[in-house]
Amino acid sequence: MSDATNGAPHRASGVSRFVSFEGIDGAGKSTHIDAVAQRWQRAGLEVVRTREPGGTPLAERLREMVLHEPMDPLTEALLIFAARRDHLQQVIEPALARGAVVLCDRFTDATFAYQGHGRGFDLGLLAVLERWVQQGPSGLRQPDLTLWFDLPAAVAAQRLVQARAPDRFERQDEAFFQRVIEGYRARSEAEPARFARIDSSQPVEAVAAQIERVLAQRGW
Ligand code: TYD
Repeated sequence: MSDATNGAPHRASGVSRFVSFEGIDGAGKSTHIDAVAQRWQRAGLEVVRTREPGGTPLAERLREMVLHEPMDPLTEALLIFAARRDHLQQVIEPALARGAVVLCDRFTDATFAYQGHGRGFDLGLLAVLERWVQQGPSGLRQPDLTLWFDLPAAVAAQRLVQARAPDRFERQDEAFFQRVIEGYRARSEAEPARFARIDSSQPVEAVAAQIERVLAQRGW
């Protein structure tokens, strides 16, 4: 799923940006990831669009297990971070090193929101795993920008009704997603400079305009 895209010529020196897209299932991230990718491809940048769990052959196999096989919460958290480690080493760090823009459909905030707040898994232990997995020579690797698509759990549930067969997370009830939303809120309050909250209840064009404003504010 990680594809170093487009035939357009790349600029000699890239910009090296890491952007993650977050939100509960049904919040509508995918459409907007595509739009942001096209925006930067048109500008001549190399865009790597990828996802978590996943993004490498090994991590995609781990994704299959995490999304479809029953397991205890610690196993789940360890597999997700194992997938993340492989993804960082094989795809994200090399892409940033050559100046690409990395657009990642979910990253560690999802683990805090889903495993931590949703499932009630120990947040302190998640923070330890985060440090182990994301610590690099220049500090703890985090996205430069996280677009959080915020939508009430009841509205997202309505949108998911039409979706394909649900995975282990999509099958959860509204109370679970309410906790996941609180998890995203906590992460965004802890790091307001990294997070931009996007009101996903609006029509697609209005959501796209919000994203455009966030990128423009950063001079991107
Ligand atoms: P999602 O990103 O919504 O992909 P799709 O659009 O193909 O359904 O699905 C991934 C699921 O994985 C989602 O329900 C959230 C879950 N997830 C976690 O529970 N923890 C994590 O750390 C990550 C990255 C994802």
